[in-house]
Amino acid sequence: EKGMEIKNMSFKVGQTLTVVGIPNPDALCFCMDIGLDKDNLTLHINPRFNSKGDEKVVVCNSYQGGKWAEEIREGCFPFRHGEEFIVTVKFLPTGFSVIFCSESAINFPNRLGAKKYSFFSFSGGIRIISVEVK
Ligand code: GAL
Repeated sequence: EKGMEIKNMSFKVGQTLTVVGIPNPDALCFCMDIGLDKDNLTLHINPRFNSKGDEKVVVCNSYQGGKWAEEIREGCFPFRHGEEFIVTVKFLPTGFSVIFCSESAINFPNRLGAKKYSFFSFSGGIRIISVEVK
């Protein structure tokens, strides 16, 4: 699947990114990526319904120099096929706080170290309703 890229939006320290989407009825997984460009991702958020040997887990990672780094995984999986979800990402001086479950946040380091990102990609089995930075 081709997915969707946004290049005319920026996300800076102190801001919050809010994504509203709906997983496709047949989605195995989908990705939401934040970075400098497609080869330099500071935060890859990959909810897996059933993909790469994983079932109902969210895998977060960064990608740089042609390689995936160390994964951080979250077992709370609120995503449902055909149902709208909201994910928020807070860009803090210490890194990203990713929230999709009300009871927990994933704290993910800003491994690329930039203070501003302007590349966003959404791919896999997902329909995006809105993407907002505030
Ligand atoms: C890989 C997968 C990538 C990415 C990465 C995260 O196995 O092919 O798309 O999700 O894991 O660590």
